[in-house]
Amino acid sequence: MSHDGDCFLVPGPVRMNSACLEALSTPAITARGSEFRDIMARLNSGLRYAFNLSPSSDKRKNESWSGDDGYKVITVSGSGTAAMEMVMANRFRPNDRVLVPTNGKFGERVAEMGARFCNVKHLKYEWGRAFDFGEIEEQLARGNWEALAICHNETSSGITQDAAELAEMCQRHGVAFILDGITSVGGLPVHPEEWGAEAVVVGAQKCTAGPSGIAAIAVNQRFIDRCIAIRNQDDSNPTYYLDIIPALKKGSDDQTPWTPAINPAMGWAAALETLKEEGLENRWNRCKMLAEGVRKLFLDLGFELLADEFFRSTTVTAILYPEGINDDWRTRLKEEYSTQVIGGQDHLKGKMFRIGSMGETPVSEMIEGCKRMISCFKDFEIDLPEVDVESYF
Ligand SMILES: Cc1ncc(COP(=O)(O)O)c(C=O)c1O
Repeated sequence: MSHDGDCFLVPGPVRMNSACLEALSTPAITARGSEFRDIMARLNSGLRYAFNLSPSSDKRKNESWSGDDGYKVITVSGSGTAAMEMVMANRFRPNDRVLVPTNGKFGERVAEMGARFCNVKHLKYEWGRAFDFGEIEEQLARGNWEALAICHNETSSGITQDAAELAEMCQRHGVAFILDGITSVGGLPVHPEEWGAEAVVVGAQKCTAGPSGIAAIAVNQRFIDRCIAIRNQDDSNPTYYLDIIPALKKGSDDQTPWTPAINPAMGWAAALETLKEEGLENRWNRCKMLAEGVRKLFLDLGFELLADEFFRSTTVTAILYPEGINDDWRTRLKEEYSTQVIGGQDHLKGKMFRIGSMGETPVSEMIEGCKRMISCFKDFEIDLPEVDVESYF
């Protein structure tokens, strides 16, 4: 199976399928009528599937947002950052102590954002280096923490945190566990209930292949109880649009407090149905197969990967440029080869590129994209060994 046309291999936004695009172009409906509630029910049910939560009905008036595991899903009209802000702003009081270990840009954003709403201690590790679990354990053992908040899959550096291990620590020390799962949910194993996670965030445009500008959170009952208690104590952070209390009040009715992102919700519901057709574990496995192929291929070609070996992400691979290459390579790749990958961020800008293996990317597109990347490196006089790209996937 060969791939013609563009190769779009960025770690989100990813390509949307025709069902999603068609849904996005549906003529306007009202925000409060039964048609939108039907959409919300489908979306809620699909979100529960993507979050790896217990199933719910996809029919309106059936509590589609909740399930036997006690988690509820809440859709946020805004990108992943808005959903993360809803979590941090509502769950904490200004004095709550929250530990945020990081090894990339998005973890650092969790720390930076968290500092607006609570008392954050930022354990900053080098981008791509695994967390020092001994140091985290030591910190947690000192007590007095309200939560540990992490970016689960660090898209900027291609590293996935060992969430099971961190969850175990959180449970042992009685602290809440909060995850930015923006590029993990739907793309690699996430187990909110098993991990006792209080909140997990996802953005539509990443592993679930939905549109940009809409996101969701999954929260457990303890999270909800804490938000309500903090509000009742009059100790909450200022929020209005992202206030979780009105969202909780509307959830049972398959509604949102403000005019929702109606068409994006339709598109996302369609994309989540595609995810269900593929099967969650099948998607995790396809993303893993693609990422493993990319890693092995580029290592054999002599490139260096940014992330520590045992923690490499299966939805995004961060690869360092060889000596003499910068983002001119990406420009040429886009213009001459109709192939897009993404560059490095902040201090790694111009020093690396990242290949996404998330969403619905078929293996044929990854193979073709990798062949074009190799050709483009050769255009820049980079001497690479001959390889059989297909054999890596
Ligand atoms: C892990 C992670 N967290 C947060 C974000 C920010 O999400 P958004 O741009 O949807 O607000 C991104 C975006 O790339 C991400 O990859």
